[in-house]
Parts: sequence; structure tokens; C-alpha cells
Amino acid sequence: MRQITVVEDPGAAVAERLTAAAEQGAHIVLTGGSTPRGAYAIAAEQDADWSDATVWFSDERCVPPEHPDSNFGMAQRALLSRLSRPPRVMRIEGELGADAAAGAYEALVREHLGNDPRFDLLLLGVGPDVHVASLFPGKPELEEAQRLVAAVPLAGMEPQVPRVTLTLPAINRARVVAFLVSGESKAGAIARAFGDPPDPEAPAARVRPQDGSIFVFVDEAAAALL
Ligand code: 6PG
Repeated sequence: MRQITVVEDPGAAVAERLTAAAEQGAHIVLTGGSTPRGAYAIAAEQDADWSDATVWFSDERCVPPEHPDSNFGMAQRALLSRLSRPPRVMRIEGELGADAAAGAYEALVREHLGNDPRFDLLLLGVGPDVHVASLFPGKPELEEAQRLVAAVPLAGMEPQVPRVTLTLPAINRARVVAFLVSGESKAGAIARAFGDPPDPEAPAARVRPQDGSIFVFVDEAAAALL
């Protein structure tokens, strides 16, 4: 099932979803980039009880957690540190380097969620090149079929630092995938990801949970070419 919702403030719609999932004690996957920051800030203001929830990350840049490019750091500043009843947080340790951090995260996911992990709510943005998490078009990590987490030695765009990312096998086991995308600079990417037909080369078009749902939250500008 896939539902595309065009709203004035897709970040607010995603914040509602995050808060509801947190209150249910879900395994929630946060993502990076700039778009989610607003959603995280709204969720922080709602200050729900996240204490039974577990927060994971879709991907991370190989920088220390306090670095401005850290996805964890952004989520920490915008949301996690502001909650009075914070969740358990499973961070990707980017500072270990891509291979070691990917291995450690794969072990962490398998330890807590088993070999067929099912995240309850997995948030993703979409890049202008239609990448999701750190799965960039034409890169080998996109074809990973076994591992749940991959090292990405060469990122497809800025910041050009190695990355660690959940793979399509991990993403496509999720119960709910929520995309959050806004702005006219993303209109072409949204059309390639969710248009008819989608572009088979577009990483976002390959997000198809086998036994789950996709919710796409976009503003009018991002949906303009659909
Ligand atoms: C990352 C993100 C990435 C992001 C998109 C969209 O680490 O860069 O996880 O996949 O979601 O690049 O980012 P913006 O919201 O900044 O456009």
C-alpha cells in the first residue's frame, strides 16, 4: 500500500506519526539531511513519552557525533535531547570508520531485532539525485542483498565523507516507511521515485516494503511534477 499526502507542512504530518509511534513503544528509524529537522523540532515540542521507544538511524556520516554533519547530532539537538522522557537510542558510530561502524551496527540490529528485523516506522528523505538513506544511484551498496547495513566509502553527494547505511533488505522489511520531502528542488526526484512509471534507476523507487506500507508526505512544490 502506498499513499501520497500533499500538505502545506509535511514536517508537521511526520511529527504526528513520530509521536504516535513513540507512544506505542515502536522501533523508529530517524533519517538525516536538513528536511527532517523541522519535523523533529515539532515532535520535540509535543514532548510525548518516548521512554518505551527505540530510535535507530537510516544512515550516518563518518564523523564524530558532535560534528555538524552528524545525523545523530542533528537528531540529538533537534529532538532527542529535548524530550523529558527520551527513548533508547541506537546510534551508528560513524567515528569508527565506515567498515567498523557498519559491522557494529549490523550486529546491534541483529542482536535487538533478529535476523529479519522489522522496524515499525522508518523515516526517509529523498535527495535531488533520488538517493535515500546513503544509498546513491549506481553505487554498489544499492545492490546489497544479504547485509542489513553497508559501508559507503564514496558518498554520491555532499558532504563527501564515507557513510554507513541501512540496505534495501533492511529498509524493505519495515512495517511503515514514511518519506518526508519538501521544496521545488525535489520535484524531479519525486516524479522519478513515485511517478508512473517510476525510474528503475532511482534508489527511492526501489523502496518497496514486502509486507508494509509507504506514506509519502510532500508539499505542493515537491509534488508539482507528479
Ligand atoms: C543523509 C540523509 C539523506 C537525506 C537526503 C535528503 O544522511 O544525507 O539521510 O538520505 O535524507 O539527502 O536530505 P535533505 O532533506 O537535506 O534534502
